[in-house]
Amino acid sequence: MQIIQTVSALRNALKNQPSIGFVPTMGNLHAGHIALVTQAKQHATCVVASIFVNPLQFSPTEDLANYPRTLKADCEKLKLAGCDIVFTPSVEEMYADFDGRNLNQSMTIDPPPIANVLCGATRLSHFAGVATVVMKLFNIVQPQMAVFGKKDFQQFFIIKEMVKQFNLPIAILAGETVREESGLALSSRNGYLTEVQRASASQLNSALQHIVNQLKNGNKEFEALEVKATALLKQQGWDVDYISIRSSNNLQLASTFDNNLIVLGAAKIANKTAGKTRLIDNIELCITH
Ligand code: PAJ
Repeated sequence: MQIIQTVSALRNALKNQPSIGFVPTMGNLHAGHIALVTQAKQHATCVVASIFVNPLQFSPTEDLANYPRTLKADCEKLKLAGCDIVFTPSVEEMYADFDGRNLNQSMTIDPPPIANVLCGATRLSHFAGVATVVMKLFNIVQPQMAVFGKKDFQQFFIIKEMVKQFNLPIAILAGETVREESGLALSSRNGYLTEVQRASASQLNSALQHIVNQLKNGNKEFEALEVKATALLKQQGWDVDYISIRSSNNLQLASTFDNNLIVLGAAKIANKTAGKTRLIDNIELCITH
């Protein structure tokens, strides 16, 4: 496995590759990331994983400086998974022409309005930062396919839209969410949780699962279901950002005619010592009545 830091060296290494699969990450890798690499291996002769903590997608109040950086352990995991190339550019290599986090000084991707709801409602310009770095990485790696996790469903949806609207010749594959036995979705942010918090962290997934069960039983009182789940989580000590029932086809609010639904949630779990940790999760379902 090669570890490459510069765009020119990467281009050189990829020159004669018949098919390239790509898995972009911000590092601190867990089994969810590794599953995406395994998936990419099934479709490409050469798999590139990138590790780049992208300043453009963090707001000034977010945890950019403290974001866990574990390059050595990450590379060991990627090697075991059969990854061929790890691309670990510096901020300067990616953004020589950029002014730190200042999106206004740069050429950026302006995502569609769906980027302003759910996670985008509180994380302003987050998805512009994500779309811009992914576009740059796509142009650098030039893969035929790339894998994104459905745990970040809104991100997956926006990347798919970007590829469609900019006619990029890249197949976007979805990776299923890898979870702990409790139902808790694996996330780099779980590392911020104490043992006690980790035990209650699966309550977010349980709340979404409860809504899913109700929907499957024919309940179509979407707003009431959202309000009830929000109230229950609040009672359990969570600071709820959103609980939302939407169409998984277009991420718009669900209508009673939609069969393909997704229940999404984001909430902060209290953490007295290290501030609050924000977790997200979602469950897709298909209803046939
Ligand atoms: P990061 O949070 O490191 O996630 C990298 C990829 O791993 C994303 O596609 C994400 O959806 C996926 N992933 C995370 N947790 C997962 C889980 N439990 N199961 C399956 N897949 C999971 O998402 C980003 O980085 C960045 O925004 C990025 C796309 C790299 C752009 O900077």
